[in-house]
Amino acid sequence: MILQTERLILRRWEETDAEECYKYAKDPTVGPAAGWPAHTSVENSRQIIKDILAAPETYAIVLKETGLPIGSIGLHHNDLAKDEDEAELGYWIGVPYWGQGLVPEAAKEVLRHAFEDLKLARVWCGYYDGNIKSKRVQEKLGFKYQRTNENVPVEQMGEIRKGHVNLMTRDDWEKSLK
Ligand SMILES: CC(C)(COP(=O)(O)OP(=O)(O)OC[C@H]1O[C@@H](n2cnc3c(N)ncnc32)[C@H](O)[C@@H]1OP(=O)(O)O)[C@@H](O)C(=O)NCCC(=O)NCCS
Repeated sequence: MILQTERLILRRWEETDAEECYKYAKDPTVGPAAGWPAHTSVENSRQIIKDILAAPETYAIVLKETGLPIGSIGLHHNDLAKDEDEAELGYWIGVPYWGQGLVPEAAKEVLRHAFEDLKLARVWCGYYDGNIKSKRVQEKLGFKYQRTNENVPVEQMGEIRKGHVNLMTRDDWEKSLK
């Protein structure tokens, strides 16, 4: 599945994206904020594309202007979204592209896809305490605050953090279109 927005193409990750992926995912201000360690080499990025980013409903965020990937966005099943009719939205984008509203633009289309095409009932989205940038993205998209978990194990980082959980239901989504 390929999704499109005004400035972006959202398509599956390919192993040939490893070099571009590494360019942005090696930055220590990107992955750790989302709960995963910075990539350590192009080869490491290639392995992560194969093992993690190639999952269904995970999309490379590709800038139409250059045709190159600059970040990632996806819908995932996990502890927060266990049932078939729900998913968690996750995302990151390279530092040079922060602040241009690109992730909200990508996320709106992924949410449309989630509710209209995949017929999901609920999309969850969380952020770790202090990640104001991600909090803002979720506010701008219209997610609603649900709860705060004091002790969330962040396995890949070997840490325990405080996590905030937001939700968008299909009903919220439909209302936001009116
Ligand atoms: C969170 C993130 C995805 C936001 O993407 P984005 O496309 O920059 O989103 P926006 O342009 O809407 O900016 C969101 C907020 O980031 C902040 N921000 C923007 N540019 C910034 C910059 N250069 N430096 C610091 N903060 C900045 C602003 O508070 C902005 O909110 P505003 O629109 O109310 O001003 C991106 O910062 C990122 O990849 N962070 C690291 C990974 C991460 O945290 N992922 C989410 C895990 S829950």
